[in-house]
Amino acid sequence: MSTIMTKSNISFSTPSSNLESELDQLLKLRTSLVLDHPLNQTIGLDLKKLFLMFELYAHFVYDFTEYVCKLFIALQDEDLKAVIYGNLTDEMGLDSLGGASWEMQHGELYRQFILSLRRTDQYKATGLDGHINSIEAISKGIANRFYLSHAAIISEGNDLQSFAAFSTIECWVCDLYSFWKRSLQNMGESHKDLDIRTIDLHCICDVEHSVALDQLMCVKLKSADANALHQIKKGIIRGMAASEQLFADIHKEIIA
Ligand SMILES: [Fe+2]
Repeated sequence: MSTIMTKSNISFSTPSSNLESELDQLLKLRTSLVLDHPLNQTIGLDLKKLFLMFELYAHFVYDFTEYVCKLFIALQDEDLKAVIYGNLTDEMGLDSLGGASWEMQHGELYRQFILSLRRTDQYKATGLDGHINSIEAISKGIANRFYLSHAAIISEGNDLQSFAAFSTIECWVCDLYSFWKRSLQNMGESHKDLDIRTIDLHCICDVEHSVALDQLMCVKLKSADANALHQIKKGIIRGMAASEQLFADIHKEIIA
């Protein structure tokens, strides 16, 4: 049984064609591969492992804006570009009035969360603070491996493949962050001292993004391009493998 209660609905309510139905099955598998990952069982009730997971995940977050930017630049299709632009402006911390502040950049929000976590007595009791430099180096290596996989996809220059690969990240964010938020409540009263803006934000903002990505993939599926389904499938499978590797790498460190 899945560790994570999902609230995002990735399914097309009534797939109207065999193509949509085939894509629908793949999208369900895409999301469950991460949400049902053994890592989530491991960190669910163990605060030290949960804290270490947040540390190891950090460089994935810090480098995410750069990846979205590279994807945006590489895309030629204006429809795909427009959807990615929405993700990019959110990542960069632009508000609805067009103002930007560094404090709201998503990597910076995550960094503030990590700093607030390190200040808690429960974090200090784990002894992790004596190994921050080596943990950060491992986190960087894990993120590099992940982004090299996506860079290889982008470098092939197929818009649908790159776009579909990106969808394999957005689809799990909201449910995973909601799970983390519930897990942090195991800290008791001191979880109130955490700066969890990054978590609250991601419990909501990526639901819309993920739906927009999936809907546009469905539209493109019906386009004149006979290879559209193949390119989407290829992007999803390669993106899924990269996301699974990301969580497998983190898991390996945690149970070592
Ligand atoms: Fe984000």
